[in-house]
Amino acid sequence: RRICHDPATHQPLAYLRLRQAIRNIIGHRDIEPGQALPSERDLSQTLKLSRVTVRKAIAGLVEEGLLTQRHGAGTFIAERIVKPMSRLTSFTEDLRERGLSPRSEFFERGIGEVTPEESMALNLSPGSLVVRLHRVRYGQDEPLAIERSVVPASVLPDPHLVRDSLYEALEKLNARPRRALQRLRAVSLNAQQARLLHVSVGSAGLNIERRSFLDDGRVVEFTCSWYRGDIYDFVAELQTD
Ligand code: GLP
Repeated sequence: RRICHDPATHQPLAYLRLRQAIRNIIGHRDIEPGQALPSERDLSQTLKLSRVTVRKAIAGLVEEGLLTQRHGAGTFIAERIVKPMSRLTSFTEDLRERGLSPRSEFFERGIGEVTPEESMALNLSPGSLVVRLHRVRYGQDEPLAIERSVVPASVLPDPHLVRDSLYEALEKLNARPRRALQRLRAVSLNAQQARLLHVSVGSAGLNIERRSFLDDGRVVEFTCSWYRGDIYDFVAELQTD
């Protein structure tokens, strides 16, 4: 686009070229996720570019989620969490598998009468009781996702049986889900979600709805989650028929 080019030479501006060069370095894994990028000063000296140019290129990549900055420590290649879509696992299990420690902060952990919308999502008759959990999910103290879960009280009679993991509580009740339907949608995070997830308003997020079932077909949960788009990759293995 016009704005991205130097009108005199029709060359992309230096910061855009540098941004692309760093993107290639990340893509080719010349620097591994979690490793530091050379300092702004080193980059500008080696590449003979102004500090402003280097800073602008880096800022763009931080915005894209490819780099992260830790105050006082420098700039690092962002580490992403790769989650297979084909396995029915819990947030807690996914994080533990990666050696990260999960934690939840609850905004709501209560029981109440089902709303019309929840009753349709869970196949429950009006007047039934449901447990509601509203949590921010953390890994190594970094917020990764927001989740709102609704579970029939006939399956989970007391919300306080959920200490940190819903699936652990269900397992103990012999009600671990066996099957689930899931929908993934791209969203931009609103002001409240962005604040809870420590990202800027309008950042990319993944909205995931999961409806899971017991062997006998009863619905166990309806969960609506917002995962950080700058951290999560959802991958699936595909096969021909
Ligand atoms: C994932 C799913 C949710 C599910 C949750 C359970 O995040 N998207 O649908 O409720 O895992 O995780 P945990 O057992 O850690 O509470």
